[in-house]
Amino acid sequence: MKKILIEGGNRLFGEVHISGAKNSVLPLIAATLLTDGVSIIDDCPYLSDVRTMCLVLEHLGAKTHFDNGELILDTSNLDAVEPPGELVRKMRASFLIMGPLLARTGKAQMSLPGGCAIGARPIDLHLKGFEALGAEINIGHGFIETHADKLKGARIYLDFPSVGATENIMMAASLAEGTTIIDNAAHEPEIIDLANMLGVMGANIKGAGTNTIRIEGVSSLKPARHTVIPDRIEAGSFLCMAAATGGELILNNVLPEHLQPLTAKLSEIGATIETGFDSIHILGPEEISPVDIKTLPYPGFPTDMQAQMMALLTVCKGTSIVTETVFENRFMHAAELRKMGADIRIKGSSSVINGVSHLEAASVESTDLRAGAAMVIAAQMAKGISEISGLHHIERGYEGFVEKLEKIGTRIWIADI
Ligand code: EPZ
Repeated sequence: MKKILIEGGNRLFGEVHISGAKNSVLPLIAATLLTDGVSIIDDCPYLSDVRTMCLVLEHLGAKTHFDNGELILDTSNLDAVEPPGELVRKMRASFLIMGPLLARTGKAQMSLPGGCAIGARPIDLHLKGFEALGAEINIGHGFIETHADKLKGARIYLDFPSVGATENIMMAASLAEGTTIIDNAAHEPEIIDLANMLGVMGANIKGAGTNTIRIEGVSSLKPARHTVIPDRIEAGSFLCMAAATGGELILNNVLPEHLQPLTAKLSEIGATIETGFDSIHILGPEEISPVDIKTLPYPGFPTDMQAQMMALLTVCKGTSIVTETVFENRFMHAAELRKMGADIRIKGSSSVINGVSHLEAASVESTDLRAGAAMVIAAQMAKGISEISGLHHIERGYEGFVEKLEKIGTRIWIADI
């Protein structure tokens, strides 16, 4: 099992090139199933989740090739509609192939995606959308099968602005007969990125990025070439590292407007932030001021940055309150931070963080992908050498993570213990 060793206590300096967004490229890969032919996704990050999604498509008969940021996908000859269960259980995002398969072939089946460390993560809103479009759904023994002769446009209200449900329904509706309207849709930048690529493929989608998305179904779609947007969560994680160590970083290949909820909070804790057209310059504060954080669907503070901010707020003069409203169990990292001396008490969906003067190095676990980034931030702040297990979690969402950390001055080693 690979572990990361980090010796904390030094300031980080330098430049970081931000990779393409994991949470955008995964639905983009799924969307190529809507057409036959060869699509190309540029600036694709080399991540284990991307490799898993490509394996899912290959099991369906597609061909994929990754070469230096360029992902080529040939979806001409699909010969299956069921990905292997172990891949679906490994990565929830594989459920995003459901909508495209249903739209292209009229059927799809797979093991039900499991929950994970951060919550039950149901799929009821995805299924509500598919049923509204005319699909029949059968669920039993941990398995789901759906089919439809022809999808027909419908008006669908999402009880929660689910990112995945919005994406799945938008993809299915692209080839449905007539008009589909998604009310209370998710606004995340990744939704807009997907709508942009679907538009290049010939889909007719209006309103992506707002509460209401209108899709006029078309009879067929064609392959596309599309560049993934930069990863706002990777960028946010590095901004937190600069703030945590009082360092100075320049992030390149970012869209600053996607990071406003985070940069606003980092300014409140005392960081100095300047934004360029596609870059962000941050100077960490000498002393971190407490702030209150409440995670919300975009454009609110992103839940995927909650763990990283919690790590940052453990060392400051004062008390911060972090409230998680998106997932029901996303404070697993608090117990790991306590091992390093943090003073965190959980009260329902809120955590009360009483700042301490410093953290002590410890052996900690990455309970999920973003908690892993939070452990790195805490280790960079702590006195001594910390050991972080679960590098495989981190590699799911951070391309070239260890190299990027070394380049900005993190004293880091990989141990295969
Ligand atoms: C996406 O997950 C992201 N993953 C997550 O990032 C992110 O945390 C999440 O959106 C919220 O922003 C990808 O894009 C691959 P949701 P998704 O459907 O689509 C409930 C990371 O670390 N819900 O918006 O699964 C659900 O239980 C990952 O990169 C239903 O109730 O998130 C949760 O409480 C973690 N019914 C809330 O909505 C449904 O049918 C948000 O889920 C679907 C969701």
